[in-house]
Amino acid sequence: MNHSRDHWRGRSIWTVTLHQIGACMVFIPLGLVCARPINLYLTYPDNPCSTITVNCHTWEEAETLTVHYDKVPRGGNPEAYAQQVKSRRKQIAGLPDGRWIHWADLRDLEPGTAYYFIVGDERGGFSRERSFRTVPSGESPIRFITGGDMGVKELCVQLLHWAGRQDPLFAVIGGDIAYADGNLARVDCWDSWFRNWDQEMLTSDGRMVPIVAAIGNHEINELPSSDPFVRAPFFTGFFWQQHEGTFFSRRFGECFSLIVLDTGHLVPHHQQVPWLEEELRKSQDLPVRLAVYHMPLYPSSRSFEDLGSVEGRRVWAPLFEKYRLTTAFENHDHCFKRSKLLKSEAIDPEGVLYLGNGCFGVEPREVGQTRRWYEEKALAQPHFWIVDVDRGRVSCQAMNQEGKVFDRYVHPQ
Ligand SMILES: [Fe+2]
Ligand SMILES: [Fe+2]
Repeated sequence: MNHSRDHWRGRSIWTVTLHQIGACMVFIPLGLVCARPINLYLTYPDNPCSTITVNCHTWEEAETLTVHYDKVPRGGNPEAYAQQVKSRRKQIAGLPDGRWIHWADLRDLEPGTAYYFIVGDERGGFSRERSFRTVPSGESPIRFITGGDMGVKELCVQLLHWAGRQDPLFAVIGGDIAYADGNLARVDCWDSWFRNWDQEMLTSDGRMVPIVAAIGNHEINELPSSDPFVRAPFFTGFFWQQHEGTFFSRRFGECFSLIVLDTGHLVPHHQQVPWLEEELRKSQDLPVRLAVYHMPLYPSSRSFEDLGSVEGRRVWAPLFEKYRLTTAFENHDHCFKRSKLLKSEAIDPEGVLYLGNGCFGVEPREVGQTRRWYEEKALAQPHFWIVDVDRGRVSCQAMNQEGKVFDRYVHPQ
């Protein structure tokens, strides 16, 4: 019996058939009765070379799920896997469907190694066997993809398909992910997004692609609260298993560090400055430093004077320049952009490269007939970036929804 998410994603939970819901009971809201894992996705609890977090949701309360894993495929038989780890769980306060979010941290993994796993329990059943690959250690080359402003439309599905086929080790999402606006009544946006991710973001050999996510304006609501769990219920519910907030960093072997920032959605730009400076200072031993965030310092569709852009240039850009950030990945503007190298708000061969601007599934916005002074190239073009980091060189290729690379840049040249 097939328990894929196509089946539980009926438009009305009251109209599913017995065949569709499998072991779940008919005539009872599906949201209350199925403990089989759905919405399976991977994140990094800390070191991507040796850890991974397996995340999933269940409709029914499941006390504890177990991830059974091994370095060889075991065909989905729980007894056959060499190792196992129990999950923890939580709920999103006020979410009507009452789903449980489960996660299990797998630690002490070998770098650059494929792992195979299932997740579930005897009562609700297990997922089919899935796989992932840990990030290699040392200076081994690393490929990832990045983009933001996704949504759940066909254009996003097409881009996800091509993104997975580039065989990235992981994906960096620059905010505006499912466009649910932190509205608990719109959780279906996230279910569709997870379905698309799970079905399309697969490597050529079927591996899952772990997620590193930054927050965007469409992750938050307008409720009068300073509580991040109220303002961004899905982002905190789905991506904050380690309670680390909206700005954090990850170190990828001896290859590069990735700094994830919050462009003022839950934390103002300036409050991140001391932390940002310390992160940049700590990463000086690495050949490459990358950053990702939502609102661009150098927009291509919106105004150069937009407050978020102005504030980013005022408080972050001087640190990017001082500590030789290699490349900043920007989003939010729904178009393609490759900047010139920029320092002190001027073109400078020693400056920072800004790539963007978040068009990983949303319809592109117009960019104007003439180029702004800081733009090398700007287009109304859906895309994601394929990023290869290898011994200090960052090679970036922009790929469109037809799987064609339409822009390439190697930095430093
Ligand atoms: Fe957006
Ligand atoms: Fe946005």
